[in-house]
Amino acid sequence: MIKKIDHIAVVVPNLEEGAKFYKEFLGLNLADVEEIEGMDTKVGFIAIGETKIELVQPTKEETGLAKYLANRGPGIHHICLEVDDIEADLKAFKEKGALLIDETPRKGAHGMKVGFIHPKTSGGVLIELCEPSHPKD
Ligand code: CO
Repeated sequence: MIKKIDHIAVVVPNLEEGAKFYKEFLGLNLADVEEIEGMDTKVGFIAIGETKIELVQPTKEETGLAKYLANRGPGIHHICLEVDDIEADLKAFKEKGALLIDETPRKGAHGMKVGFIHPKTSGGVLIELCEPSHPKD
């Protein structure tokens, strides 16, 4: 079940450079910078009320994200929706005929479980689902 927009992700060549606009014009700080193991990305978050902007920087050439950045330049990359049971939600998307990038969740930022829906299914918008990690797990 979808709960809210967790974040909107913006791909940037460099996190610190990308964060300047938010700091200088909006007074918002980049926090929780982290390299995501196995995804060849470095991410950081700018909290805005209940949601966040995620800045994503590719750390290797030749990855899908690096090519996306090279082809299109910096800009919005995906929208992430928080769900309460990602395994069940990915399965439900698949049963309804969605094209999935991840059929089973992988580990994202903050130890969250994440999975991506292919933009072919979702009108050209890359959609990420995330389930926050629960302290009791
Ligand atoms: Co994201």
